Amino acid sequence: MIIAVDGPAASGKGTIARALARHFELPHLDTGLLYRAVGLNLLRWGGDPESEFSALRACDFSQTDFADPELKSEAAGGIASRISVYPSVRAALLERQRQFAAQPGGAVLDGRDIGTVIAPEADAKLFVTASPEVRAQRRFDELQRLGLEVHLADVLLDIQARDERDSSRSSAPLRAAEDAILIDTSALTAEAAIAEALAGVERRLAR
Ligand code: DC
Repeated sequence: MIIAVDGPAASGKGTIARALARHFELPHLDTGLLYRAVGLNLLRWGGDPESEFSALRACDFSQTDFADPELKSEAAGGIASRISVYPSVRAALLERQRQFAAQPGGAVLDGRDIGTVIAPEADAKLFVTASPEVRAQRRFDELQRLGLEVHLADVLLDIQARDERDSSRSSAPLRAAEDAILIDTSALTAEAAIAEALAGVERRLAR
């Protein structure tokens, strides 16, 4: 069974995907980490994010530690969004994601294009959204908990810029698959969002 969970930054898709993976005892891949790892590799090599060729070279994961806490940083997220517009970078990461999805027993993947490009055959697809203001507040709270000095207005601007880039790129833009279940988490607690997602997936599986 393949479950695809897509949505913008800080929508709650990661929390939902992890909970579904636990519930159905399936392996889970946060595909954003792949793009973040490419971005971080590029930053560390001093490569130019404006160059598609440099970004493609940064897709070599032989030295990458996927548990590196830096992958979760705003810097890594920002550069991931920039290099994810390049078709050659997306192509370089495609097979890895498809293989993860196709493993025996199935998997849960979360990202931007899982239901549309990586696993259009998924048994259940969710598209998780929330208003930019709510998502900015969540990201702000998270950064404050990490002890980082940030302004809510800057976080909101960053979220809006990221939405714009992720939705307007020509290669695999962020959008809901036609058969995706839409979940707006703006007014939901994590527990309520997970319960809604689980009920939606179970409805799909019962069809
Ligand atoms: O989900 P995230 O914030 O960790 O993702 C970081 C960036 O990676 C996001 O802004 C766009 C890109 N991304 C993508 O283009 N496709 C995916 N499937 C996952 C992430």
